[in-house]
Amino acid sequence: MPSLSRWDSSLNTGVAGIDTEHQKLFNMLKMLEDAHQVGFGASVVSGIMDELCDYTSHHFSNEEQQLEQFGHSQLQEHKAIHQTLLDKVISYRQKLVATNDRESLVAEVGAFLQNWLVQHILEVDIPALQGSRKGS
Ligand SMILES: [Fe+2]
Repeated sequence: MPSLSRWDSSLNTGVAGIDTEHQKLFNMLKMLEDAHQVGFGASVVSGIMDELCDYTSHHFSNEEQQLEQFGHSQLQEHKAIHQTLLDKVISYRQKLVATNDRESLVAEVGAFLQNWLVQHILEVDIPALQGSRKGS
């Protein structure tokens, strides 16, 4: 499994608080990767997914508030994208508890979330935060 802690300055949104939260999300993905140290037990993995779910939800609502303050014109669409991802994290959590091959599924989930996060920051968050800010 490749390293999942891959925040770098190309992911800078220009809003320090949001960047700090994005970095924390990458750190949480690293925790999933590190679960191999304790053998990918169901309770360990579901505990990490619970934290990831809570923090992702907290981060999305902060980011949505920030976008609202900037008067972002596509706030509803952005919220819908966030909700779709949250639903996916919840469904992955259930699958991770039930699976017989947790190690493979952890790798799949980690890679999916990392790719999603990088792509979302680059293609959705940065244009939204920077574009709305200029217009505000
Ligand atoms: Fe976002």
